[in-house]
Amino acid sequence: MQVNKLKTNNNNIYFLPPEIPGKIITLKLISLDYTQEYFCMLSKTVQNMINVSSPATLENTKKFLQKRYNLYLKNKIIFYFIFDNKNNNLIGKIEIRNNKNKKGHLGSWINENYWGSGRYKEALNLISKLYFFNTKTQFYTAQIHEENLRSLHAHLKYKFKLLKKFTLRDGRRYYNLVFYKKDL
Ligand SMILES: CC(C)(COP(=O)(O)OP(=O)(O)OC[C@H]1O[C@@H](n2cnc3c(N)ncnc32)[C@H](O)[C@@H]1OP(=O)(O)O)[C@@H](O)C(=O)NCCC(=O)NCCS
Repeated sequence: MQVNKLKTNNNNIYFLPPEIPGKIITLKLISLDYTQEYFCMLSKTVQNMINVSSPATLENTKKFLQKRYNLYLKNKIIFYFIFDNKNNNLIGKIEIRNNKNKKGHLGSWINENYWGSGRYKEALNLISKLYFFNTKTQFYTAQIHEENLRSLHAHLKYKFKLLKKFTLRDGRRYYNLVFYKKDL
């Protein structure tokens, strides 16, 4: 199987398989081939919850994914699309960014038609294993907008820990959460 090297800030090297199969979802490494599918699944509901700066269009989605792809090539992010194993549809994304990103490490979404089904739990589990088993890192962080109660609840349920202080970003308050390797 072809693997891709990724260097973290700490110069740890880990390997990114093109596909990570789970029971109900499969993670597939970022590729520009899926731009159209990604755009179709990035619904208005999801866009509102992740506070996109402007509504998604095919054009700005292409630019966004091209940027993410370049960051992946520079070993600055791990970025996987989430595919449903039943119908093989792209249903979301999950990424872990390096320390320099002001939004924290974790970035994720799943189209609302696939919520509440264990798919996110499995996506988190697969990417966390990849991250922790191949680096010396002991935790990663997530920032969740204070009104995004579904996401907050989901992450607490999946053993993220809530820190006391909010982060203020673009006039909005975000909860700070941490996920520790020991809780995997
Ligand atoms: C965050 C996200 C990936 C979670 O996936 P999911 O499939 O919805 O997660 P789950 O169903 O496993 O967990 C959601 C939980 O929140 C609960 N919930 C839903 N609405 C809620 C609310 N308003 N207040 C409190 N809890 C709520 C659900 O009941 C469920 O908990 P339960 O299983 O104990 O009943 C998904 O909701 C999503 O993509 N949201 C849009 C993008 C987003 O917010 N990304 C995260 C940015 S930090």
